Amino acid sequence: MLRFMDRDQSQKNRQAGSAAGLNHMVTGVSGRLGSAVLQAILEHDLISPLNLFISTSSDPNDKKWQQVKTRGVVVRHANYDDVPGMIKAFKGIHKLLLISSPLLELDIPYKEYGEGRDRQHINVILACRAAGVRHIYYTSLGLAPINPFGSIASTMLAHHRTEHTLRLLVDISYTIIREAPYAELWPLYLGFYDGPSDKRRDLLIAGDGPVSWTSIQDLGLGTALILADMSTSWSGVTTTLSSQFAVPLHHIAEIVTRLCGNETRLSIVSQEQYIQYYTHEQGIDENISRWWVSTYAALTRHEGWHADAPLLSRLLEKFGRKPKHIDEVVREMLSARKQNEGNGGPLVAEW
Ligand SMILES: NC(=O)c1ccc[n+]([C@@H]2O[C@H](COP(=O)([O-])OP(=O)(O)OC[C@H]3O[C@@H](n4cnc5c(N)ncnc54)[C@H](OP(=O)(O)O)[C@@H]3O)[C@@H](O)[C@H]2O)c1
Repeated sequence: MLRFMDRDQSQKNRQAGSAAGLNHMVTGVSGRLGSAVLQAILEHDLISPLNLFISTSSDPNDKKWQQVKTRGVVVRHANYDDVPGMIKAFKGIHKLLLISSPLLELDIPYKEYGEGRDRQHINVILACRAAGVRHIYYTSLGLAPINPFGSIASTMLAHHRTEHTLRLLVDISYTIIREAPYAELWPLYLGFYDGPSDKRRDLLIAGDGPVSWTSIQDLGLGTALILADMSTSWSGVTTTLSSQFAVPLHHIAEIVTRLCGNETRLSIVSQEQYIQYYTHEQGIDENISRWWVSTYAALTRHEGWHADAPLLSRLLEKFGRKPKHIDEVVREMLSARKQNEGNGGPLVAEW
């Protein structure tokens, strides 16, 4: 009986956005950042599960969602390519966290405005407007452009275009959260480094500069805290979540050398040499090499350096936490890799 009363009450709460808070939805929760946001919300009770909705482009009835469902979270189906489906999924939602699309292949090779990942993001924005969502939070990338026309990195293009679209909106509020480069992705930046078994002693890169590497778990908590903030202070804001320790790729190579015992050197080459080497000698698709190489030019211009972004440290402080240092992330990843040596699989499987 009690169960039915609870369910009845929770239904009413959801419909009304509840006295306790507004209905929130987080997309992309099976991914790295989305799952960290969801975990932070539930672990720290930042949003009542009765006001929490998550979306997946796969099967919302899959048993992997059972655990969150038993806590009262509702799982809905939403695919960034399907506007009518998203309008249905977003009904009754007040605040939506759009985890940016992981489908990098949509951006490669170069796409015009509205034809890459930004098309999927614009689809989400259109669906939000049609469904009556009041506030969109968007996870952009923290390559801070010094150039007023934007970052030089191709990885930022879809984000810049989505940010631009959000800033044009007059009927819905937005918050743009630029997430600093994931600390866990250092091997990609280090020439697709594959751990202690990587036979290369010289890793070719196309530039270096300070990067404020930030762990995904810390970004998840920071993002969740911004989403859960009931004040209006985040409306119309573009902010960066980042640790404040910036180290260049050369520093990471030194740690790798120390921990693995083999000297790992970095050699800076031209963009064209980088593309030729990774395409013809490392088997990376040429379009991907051409797309990724601009990231090094961005690092050289200090676009990954966020010495002036204390927000994440302040947010984590409330939970007695400090952003995790990149040295610790590298150490943990290498030691996990050493333990699993022989089990196969690259150090970093995905971008
Ligand atoms: N700051 C950084 O260094 C950095 C690094 C990499 C990426 N990023 C950006 O941050 C975003 C999130 O990163 P992540 O590491 O969490 O990515 P991820 O692990 O690949 O997860 C993204 C999630 O998006 C969902 N998704 C995939 N296709 C979809 C579609 N058609 N419609 C709706 N949802 C879809 C998937 O969940 P379902 O299968 O459940 O739908 C997937 O789990 C990326 O997509 C990228 O834009 C930032």
